[in-house]
Amino acid sequence: MITFRMNGKEVQGEDGWTILEAARISGIDIPTLCFHGAVEPSGACRLCMVEVNDGRRRRIVASCLYPIRPGMEVDTESERVRNVRRWILQLLVDEHPGSDSLRALARSYGIEPSNFRSNDFQNTCMLCGLCVRGCEELTGASAIAFGNRGVKKHITTPFDMQTAECVECGNCLYLCPTGAMDRIFEKVRAMPMVTAESTGSAGRRRP
Ligand code: SF4
Ligand code: FES
Repeated sequence: MITFRMNGKEVQGEDGWTILEAARISGIDIPTLCFHGAVEPSGACRLCMVEVNDGRRRRIVASCLYPIRPGMEVDTESERVRNVRRWILQLLVDEHPGSDSLRALARSYGIEPSNFRSNDFQNTCMLCGLCVRGCEELTGASAIAFGNRGVKKHITTPFDMQTAECVECGNCLYLCPTGAMDRIFEKVRAMPMVTAESTGSAGRRRP
């Protein structure tokens, strides 16, 4: 077992655990968005940042990725940590003001959408990739993936087409922290299929 201090208290965790895992076992709450215990962490949202002093220097790290070490000191609620979280939440709600769950989480930190918020209330996907990882790791499928790059990056199906890879398990809907998958999944699944019969050509594609 590894012994270290979190928020001034002595806590323990097994070798290989992350700070987040040790915190949850010890009943210490660290907010997360792109993390779920059933899939590999990716460090996409950075909301789980905590302050670490491992004897060399104090720094802010993503607790869902950072391994525990003997004697380290972790602060999950320092002013610096709360400022980072507020800053991240401000960016997220401004970019995705249409997400009820994001707005509720931000509000718990005293954050509301600012004057710089997007006018696009439809785009609630923060591109955390939890749905993609869940599809691959839990369902064993590759029905959804990232499409395009940069500002055009989005969640889609392979080739933007309905896919038999999707077994409608609902894992992506359950995992999505913003509710964005409701819209994406519905669009993908409800899109009328154009068949060889209706087009007179081979293959299946969207209109
Ligand atoms: S649909 Fe949801 S789970 Fe998937 S990337 Fe977007 S916010 Fe994350
Ligand atoms: S929960 Fe750790 S980076 Fe998102």
